[in-house]
Amino acid sequence: MVNQAKKKRSGRGKVVARTGELMHGTTKKFRLQCRGSTLEAILVNYEGKISAYVNRCCHISLTMDWVDNQFFTEDKRYLICANHGATYEPTTGECIWGPCFGAFLQNVPLEVSRDQIRAYCPEDKKLRE
Ligand code: FES
Repeated sequence: MVNQAKKKRSGRGKVVARTGELMHGTTKKFRLQCRGSTLEAILVNYEGKISAYVNRCCHISLTMDWVDNQFFTEDKRYLICANHGATYEPTTGECIWGPCFGAFLQNVPLEVSRDQIRAYCPEDKKLRE
């Protein structure tokens, strides 16, 4: 199952994975070109539900992985920022523990066509520098 917003997407998006590519508790980093900037994002599989977020912590505008592509806690239950330990729900991006409690990771819209997962740029108003 892929977390998809119902809005019409602009552009063609970018194929970032094939369905079934990611196992539960794993992530895949990818980059998107959005209005002249490059965004680093992560694709997340939590119990078969696929979501994607910009790789930028809500606490301080830093990437969350010190070790490349390591986002899940050891028990594969939450996403965690390696900087100060902000802990996020993997299916919603909500910070449920830490310095940015209650904030949400920036969602990256996804769409599945055939066996491909496409990612689209977040909306303008949601892009943070
Ligand atoms: S930068 Fe992520 S918890 Fe501080």
